[in-house]
Amino acid sequence: MSTHSKKSPIEIRDLQSVVKDDLHEFSSHFKAAVKVDHGLLNLVIRYFLRQKGKRIRPLLVLLTAKTCGGIRERSYRAAVLVELLHTATLVHDDVVDESEKRRGAFSINALWGNKVAVLLGDYFLSRGLLLALDNDDIDFLRVLSNAVKRMSEGELRQVQRARRMDVDEASYYKIISDKTASLISACTRCGALSADADPESLKSMEEFGEQLGLAFQIRDDLFDFGSHEVGKPVGADIQKNLVTLPLIHALEISPPSDQKRILKIIRKDKKTKQNRQNIFEFVQSTGGLSYAQQRMESHVKSAQALLDSFPDSEARRAMHALSQYVIDRKK
Ligand code: IPE
Ligand code: IPE
Ligand code: MG
Ligand code: MG
Repeated sequence: MSTHSKKSPIEIRDLQSVVKDDLHEFSSHFKAAVKVDHGLLNLVIRYFLRQKGKRIRPLLVLLTAKTCGGIRERSYRAAVLVELLHTATLVHDDVVDESEKRRGAFSINALWGNKVAVLLGDYFLSRGLLLALDNDDIDFLRVLSNAVKRMSEGELRQVQRARRMDVDEASYYKIISDKTASLISACTRCGALSADADPESLKSMEEFGEQLGLAFQIRDDLFDFGSHEVGKPVGADIQKNLVTLPLIHALEISPPSDQKRILKIIRKDKKTKQNRQNIFEFVQSTGGLSYAQQRMESHVKSAQALLDSFPDSEARRAMHALSQYVIDRKK
């Protein structure tokens, strides 16, 4: 990994370079895992995979395995599994969120409709489960099935919450832990399993993933309040009555009169640009953004502390840097 001063931003390329050959190996396994010969499925898959995504999850699997003693053949499979499940969730998520953009391009539902998107998501998921079964990776299967279950629960709870407009921090945390941190902690757990890590290390790595996952989703939720291009729509959460941490906190510390005024805007079915602007300004001036920023930093600190019990190595340092990258990233 190239050295960088504290101030220069961490580039994902520097982190990838630590497991460069392994990522190539992962890539070819991944391609093979989603190969289909013909038809609409082939066309849609080829379209979707042209936009790659950051591939943070496979990177995390490989770095965890390396930190825990070494990457094995099974580690590549774990990396493929998590990326397949992640891909399936994104395709489904864009249906749930009625989102037109993903990774800077039109979403599957925008181009082919909801039916195709739901079926494609199921297809990715089933390819993942079969890959694990075919190789008797029952331990991965257990971890990942549980993650998929929690992701669905989290997404469902989020739908319910948007309807009722619950706005408390505890329910927000439960949702992001289930919908996002569950898969990220599955990445670190499977990475550690693939390296035959001892129970203590497994636990630490899993908790590292949980903390990192929480920070990851808070970062994602902060993007929604930003104005820069991240490859998916901005302001979409507010539009869909999704109240995330910056707004939750801003509401929590405001007098009832302000709460009433803002909740009235959030309840509107269609928000105007001015409506959204008012909410953004409220969140900004009440310190909601900086609060979320602090929370995110504290989760990253907790994650990094968990790495201390592992012997120093290039891979461990890369995991440390990766957790910083997760909150500094621009997309
Ligand atoms: C997006 O994940 C979904 C969330 C959990 C917020 P990523 O930001 O890792 O998506 P890609 O794979 O890089 O597109
Ligand atoms: C991400 O949810 C998908 C899951 C974690 C299941 P979001 O809806 O918050 O993420 P983006 O912003 O669309 O990627
Ligand atoms: Mg969503
Ligand atoms: Mg979404």
